Amino acid sequence: MADVHHLGPTHGAPCEYLENELQGHRVIQRQGGFFDYYQADLKTVTWYTGPGILLSKQQYLDQVRYEFIANTPVEDGISRVWHAALSLNTGNLPEAEARERAHVEQAGALETFAADFEI
Ligand SMILES: [Fe+2]
Repeated sequence: MADVHHLGPTHGAPCEYLENELQGHRVIQRQGGFFDYYQADLKTVTWYTGPGILLSKQQYLDQVRYEFIANTPVEDGISRVWHAALSLNTGNLPEAEARERAHVEQAGALETFAADFEI
């Protein structure tokens, strides 16, 4: 949540602003930057609630996506992780097109999350 330097290389938008707010066992991160791939500003608000639940609202162009990540340790040094992303049909696309876009968004979010493990 505080590793500002990984946001550009792994998430595609070098951070132009970042704020972490600590509320007991919760961290709320607000950050954003220019998303090179989409040539648009990216804004995210992410909540991490210990232990192991992350919710993130991500906005760029007319897209709004919610990302959910949960993890739990299963043994020393090994965690099990669940990941999902929901995309709003902000463009009032026909259902089939909206579902396809949501699948692409899910795959992109998962790819970006997976890049975190390469650090
Ligand atoms: Fe990350």
